[in-house]
Amino acid sequence: MRVLSGIQPSGALHLGNYFGAMRPQIEMQARHECFYFIANYHALTSVHDHKRMVENTRGVALGYLALGLDPAKTVFYRQTDVPEVCELAWILSCVTPMALLQRCHSYKDKIAQGITPSTGLFTYPVLQAADILIVKSHLVPVGQDQKQHIEVTQDIQTKFNQTFKCDVLVRPEPMIGSDVAVIPGIDGRKMSKSYDNTIELFCPEKTAKKRIMSMKTDSTPVEEPKDPNQCNVFALLKLMASAEEIKHWKERYRKGGMGYGEVKKRLVELYLETLGEARKRHADFEKHPEEVERILVEGGRRAREVAAETLREVRKVTGLVRAKA
Ligand code: ADP
Ligand code: TRP
Repeated sequence: MRVLSGIQPSGALHLGNYFGAMRPQIEMQARHECFYFIANYHALTSVHDHKRMVENTRGVALGYLALGLDPAKTVFYRQTDVPEVCELAWILSCVTPMALLQRCHSYKDKIAQGITPSTGLFTYPVLQAADILIVKSHLVPVGQDQKQHIEVTQDIQTKFNQTFKCDVLVRPEPMIGSDVAVIPGIDGRKMSKSYDNTIELFCPEKTAKKRIMSMKTDSTPVEEPKDPNQCNVFALLKLMASAEEIKHWKERYRKGGMGYGEVKKRLVELYLETLGEARKRHADFEKHPEEVERILVEGGRRAREVAAETLREVRKVTGLVRAKA
């Protein structure tokens, strides 16, 4: 099966990205033909600063490679190295009803936050559909909050094939990453860079420790029993500890006599155990930017070949004639 997913270079990678999206994506490499990319055109809807765009793009590249993306197996690229997606996005936008985009939660949430929307923000899901449909992906592993965008892609795919009486575009299915659909941040809300509640994957050890130790917990006194299922610290611990250890902590919570400081300290250790290797590889890749660039250029070339072929078929069925290359 063909699998595609992308992450916007709009901020530093965090545990929510890892458990909600990146870890399952990386696990899929062994069984499927994967295409993973850095969605920098999408990030332009929110990042309007040259330095941040360049740094974040590098951050997502290093992050994926450090977390185990294998460029020999997976096609790994920057969205801008496959500019065909923008042409397909335009074509798709001509069969996409406005009302479909007006219903999108992520767009409505941004408006509710008071952001004045650009046209790009509104048509964001059409570009996302183009990313997916241009490689004829069957599966799209993402976090829960992206599910609706994949459903929009399905609608656009159906509409295109119906309109042009063809079967050029392939229907993709969403695959929701983690059993814990939404990873909580240090304040208990969804972990997200826009809430400033993240625990980053590649920050200095001291910073990660500080963030974990400052996680919000309730004020139940140490001696009283506590409910593990109501606790953010436990929610993160569950993602990193063994089944046996999870059982142990559940009992400790319920028995009373356990302070939150104790479980937070253990979470710091688990964080370092879980990400230790990746953090080391990240530091190594940082020293070899030319190697990272080589990987992205090669990935871009491979993705572009596939994209160009789909676009040829799309131009053919739509009658969008152009000079032969
Ligand atoms: P952010 O919310 O920090 O802006 P993104 O929207 O860039 O993160 O998310 C990139 C990927 O990581 C998406 O597939 C998204 O669903 C997933 N993801 C982000 N935060 C979480 C979270 N707290 N829980 C689960 N998945 C998440
Ligand atoms: N919208 C996704 C996010 O914010 C990023 C993205 C862009 C994407 N294009 C995609 C994800 C295609 C999956 C498939 O996380």
